[in-house]
Amino acid sequence: MCGIVAYTGPRQGAALVLEGLKRLEYRGYDSAGLAVVNDSGLEVHKAPGKIAVLEKRLAGHLPEGHTAMAHTRWATHGAPTEANAHPHTDCGGTIAVTHNGIIENAGALRTALTKRGHVFRSETDTEVLAHLIEELHGKGASLGDAVAGALHQVEGTYGIAVLSTREPDTVVAARKGSPLLVAIGTGENWVASDASAVLAHTRSVVYLDDGEIAVVRPHDYHILDLAAVEKEKAVTHVEWDLATIERGGYQHFMLKEILEQPESVRNTLRGRLLEEEGAVRLGGLNLSDDDLLKIDRIVITACGTSWHSALIGEYMMEELARIPTEVEYASEFRYRNPIVDERTLVVGISQSGETADTLAALREAKRRGARTLGLVNVVGSTIAREVDGGIYLHAGPEIGVASTKAFTSQIVALALLTLQMGRLRSLSILQGREVVRALARLPELVAHVLAKAPEVEQIAERLVRTANVLYLGRGYNFPVALEGALKLKEISYIHAEGYPAAEMKHGPIALIDELMPVVFVAPRDAVYQKVVSNVEEVKARGGRVIAIVTEGDTGVSRLADHKVEIPETLDLLTPVLSVLPLQLLAYYIAVRRGCNVDQPRNLAKSVTVE
Ligand code: F6R
Repeated sequence: MCGIVAYTGPRQGAALVLEGLKRLEYRGYDSAGLAVVNDSGLEVHKAPGKIAVLEKRLAGHLPEGHTAMAHTRWATHGAPTEANAHPHTDCGGTIAVTHNGIIENAGALRTALTKRGHVFRSETDTEVLAHLIEELHGKGASLGDAVAGALHQVEGTYGIAVLSTREPDTVVAARKGSPLLVAIGTGENWVASDASAVLAHTRSVVYLDDGEIAVVRPHDYHILDLAAVEKEKAVTHVEWDLATIERGGYQHFMLKEILEQPESVRNTLRGRLLEEEGAVRLGGLNLSDDDLLKIDRIVITACGTSWHSALIGEYMMEELARIPTEVEYASEFRYRNPIVDERTLVVGISQSGETADTLAALREAKRRGARTLGLVNVVGSTIAREVDGGIYLHAGPEIGVASTKAFTSQIVALALLTLQMGRLRSLSILQGREVVRALARLPELVAHVLAKAPEVEQIAERLVRTANVLYLGRGYNFPVALEGALKLKEISYIHAEGYPAAEMKHGPIALIDELMPVVFVAPRDAVYQKVVSNVEEVKARGGRVIAIVTEGDTGVSRLADHKVEIPETLDLLTPVLSVLPLQLLAYYIAVRRGCNVDQPRNLAKSVTVE
């Protein structure tokens, strides 16, 4: 959802910010741009498309200058053209702005600025910021004050970085709703949308909070609120290293991340299982046992893939902890009048920890008195910092735009939370031990399933030219069907739908014919026999069946055209295994279709606009 990186220091800035920008390309790749302040003023270069297009255009002739910033765009206002690419400049060409977010009153501001003589060169909402800053900076305000003055006039969300020729070694950054951090080097400093852009240079970062402005120079930085009062902020040490955010020899991040799941699941579990007690140790909940016992209802809120894991969490929580649980799309929750109070636990699930709707839903829940928890992957992200407590996924950086390892870690984290809530209530120590043991075995079982990648690749070969796929599952594996369909559609552009298997006969069965492959997620679990009947219904209508089944299965396997076996585990944990062949299936189909699996069209990894 747009990536920003800016640098000020003794080195040549352009190469550094472009290198950092490449690590942010997962945030958007509609266009890219670069601005450098040097002795001749402000130099700006932009190009539609990926960063590589901009680099090609520059053909190795990078502009010189020690203060630079770059931007990769995920278009909101205005098509992904060169004119709409960031940075945007003022009329005098002395101020450059990069922006992630949406200025909601841009239309009115643009009309007023045009009346006052400003000339606009793009269709973006961002450009109003450059002109607003120009008015104040031109009257003598420092760049920091001018940015603050401009931000007082805008409504909406922003993470911005601003350069000016009048303060050639300064980067001013500000945040409301879109993530931004200041990274601290030695005699040089950075501003970036996330730490991956700067990890090659420093691990010391200061996360900006909403309503904060940073004035950053090579040897110092100051964080102020919008009333210009200076704030003390903690410096965080980022643990992720560069190697973990690189592709490490894999053709795509997505494949690397799928194959990393034995390790990512292990990391989610690490240090948290208490086998003897049949319980878990969750250090970050920040809620006492008494607090947790007062909870009489749970709402889990999330978007996309994280919403699918939330559905699995609902089933777990009701089955094992016996707490009424609902799942809400964060984008719906925030605009309803949801009934939550201090006895409600609202759990937000987010890989990035920056999804605007999930963040807003959690803020709304908090405002209404609910306790909030975050199941978040990115340490230090906004959701992680704003919730009362939470469980970090520790899945490691997920760069591929399609979420894979975060999903399995979310399910594991939900199982941990369920155990915690359940053991405080009616879940016996014996039941607790059974779940703990099954969790402990998961990494090994995940590795076992992933070793079947070549089998899945062969099945994928047969589906490369299909136009539609239906995914069906029941119980714990209904959300897996949704997730399998989402994976396929987002990276291969094949139309796919997920359904509860038994719902098929209420409509979708009309679609079944020999051209409609049907993927059944059918491990041997409590609803297995029912699913066998659903498979029969599809076969009776000439459908082609691909089935995910338990090792040794005969019932569904007898009917299936292709199958992938997964080992046995507890019903509630089967999604961690059954989703793996579906991730691989989507991956291999998309690769065979020549799609860009890591950066599918129209998508961005971190959706920081609503
Ligand atoms: C799908 C996908 C998205 C995200 C969704 C929420 O593969 O990645 O559907 O799951 O945008 O993102 P997070 O989990 O970062 O809040």
